[in-house]
Amino acid sequence: MKGTGSSNVVRHQGVVTKQDYCRRNGHRSMALWFTGLSGAGKSTLAYAVHERIFRRGWHTYVLDGDNLRHGLNSDLGFGEAERQENIRRAGEVARLFVEAGVVVLAAFISPFAADRERVRKLFAPGEFQEVYVKCDLAVCETRDPKQLYRRARAGEIPSFTGISSPYEAPTSPELVVDTSVLRVETAVDRILEHIDRLTHQDMGQGAMI
Ligand code: ADX
Repeated sequence: MKGTGSSNVVRHQGVVTKQDYCRRNGHRSMALWFTGLSGAGKSTLAYAVHERIFRRGWHTYVLDGDNLRHGLNSDLGFGEAERQENIRRAGEVARLFVEAGVVVLAAFISPFAADRERVRKLFAPGEFQEVYVKCDLAVCETRDPKQLYRRARAGEIPSFTGISSPYEAPTSPELVVDTSVLRVETAVDRILEHIDRLTHQDMGQGAMI
């Protein structure tokens, strides 16, 4: 899908900046992009991290593939081009939240490395953090919380990631959590440590990006 809608449009620039939002919020903004197979635990981890940082008083929001596909992306299916558009829109929405000073937790299979890299390019350095929610296909298939693997194996769901559509694992993600070996609480702690490390790095540089 190639749009030409922006050719005669000039951007507006407000007075209030991302830095102003972050200063007022008392924390930096960023997008944590959870990628992995269906059933790997992306949404579970995103919502658990969300709850923990919300309780700290941070500004945070979850963008979840399943949920966006009921609204903004309800016109999209699971072919390669439609997944690409799904991730493009999700990335743009994540960027808007980050501009508004929010810590965004985005949970999308996002199986194609090129689509994830395009999203990364929307952000300033360090703002986009790829979190690979690693889990063996066999484990995801055993969990099968939505019974989708069973249906995909039965030929009822075409282009199912891991079965009849590829998943390109990240080669240099900022963080890997392997949910086939880690308990949820441990994985959540690792992600929170990662967020805090980034936040302290900024404070060490006297900047809040
Ligand atoms: S993505 O590939 O475009 O990033 P997204 O994360 O938005 O996918 O949505 C994935 C969810 O859609 C899965 O958790 C699953 O519940 C559902 N789903 C339905 N059909 C498929 C399919 N063919 N492949 C993968 N997930 C599917």
